[in-house]
Amino acid sequence: MIILITGISSGFGRAMAEQLSADGHTVYGTHRNATDLLPGVHYIKADAQKDEECQAAVQQVLDAEGRIDVFINNAGMGIGGPLEFSSLEDARKQMDVNWMGMVRFLHWVLPVMRRQKSGKIICFSSIGGLMGLPFQGLYSASKFAIEGYCEALRMEVRAHNIKVVVIEPGDFATSFTAKRKSVANPEAHEAYPSYARSLASIEHDETTGLKPDFLARRISKIVKNPRPRYRYIISTLEQRLSVFLKAILPPSWFEAILRSYYKL
Ligand SMILES: NC(=O)c1ccc[n+]([C@@H]2O[C@H](COP(=O)([O-])OP(=O)(O)OC[C@H]3O[C@@H](n4cnc5c(N)ncnc54)[C@H](OP(=O)(O)O)[C@@H]3O)[C@@H](O)[C@H]2O)c1
Repeated sequence: MIILITGISSGFGRAMAEQLSADGHTVYGTHRNATDLLPGVHYIKADAQKDEECQAAVQQVLDAEGRIDVFINNAGMGIGGPLEFSSLEDARKQMDVNWMGMVRFLHWVLPVMRRQKSGKIICFSSIGGLMGLPFQGLYSASKFAIEGYCEALRMEVRAHNIKVVVIEPGDFATSFTAKRKSVANPEAHEAYPSYARSLASIEHDETTGLKPDFLARRISKIVKNPRPRYRYIISTLEQRLSVFLKAILPPSWFEAILRSYYKL
């Protein structure tokens, strides 16, 4: 299969590129400044915030292969901090990379898959896209946007034999934690004393989390599956349980659990 993945310089993207290439697929991946390149994987330079670079990346795969069987929207980053102290520029950037980045690629991928009458689109959301997480509000909002878009898209493209899958990873140890931009303003810490505790707890969960190869093996199976589910929660049992509890508990009960977990 011909596969295009966004953001393969590190973390999930790199692990998926390695796994899917080992599975025998032809893998293309976008990056901005990757140096340690995987053999056998085709690297394409593209910033998810630049319309023309996303279009050119899709065109490069088409020129070489004439089709795209699987598109994996993985590129993303996190901006954390109390919402009151998050700048408008950060809010714009968070949405532009995580949500508009996906929209930009799909704008060019969708007509290709519709014409070839087949395709699989796998988009990375997060458990934070199923519940608003304190001090990760901008990030949660960007992933909620992905959820809404994909839920609608799945119904629209079904008749064209295009499958849409959303991945909800829990906490994983990747470069995501080190690359997160967090509000450092002392006033923000003073006004929201629980921010530092929450951030430390989030970072601990991520750095001691699952390894990206575990997720890549699950993606390998989803790519092979002709009838994939819509949603895959790839996480610890405790994190899967939190999604279940949000679905069944009264909102105030679930909020109390989250507040206690994040030490608010
Ligand atoms: N790690 C977790 O616990 C976790 C949990 C839930 C969901 N996720 C999601 O999983 C996806 C992958 O994250 P990861 O954990 O593998 O983190 P990662 O190791 O930091 O990888 C993120 C990838 O996205 C790329 N990227 C970031 N901004 C970009 C931009 N403007 N244009 C193009 N590429 C860009 C990065 O490229 P550069 O090297 O150029 O920055 C990198 O290749 C993200 O969508 C993230 O939200 C992660």
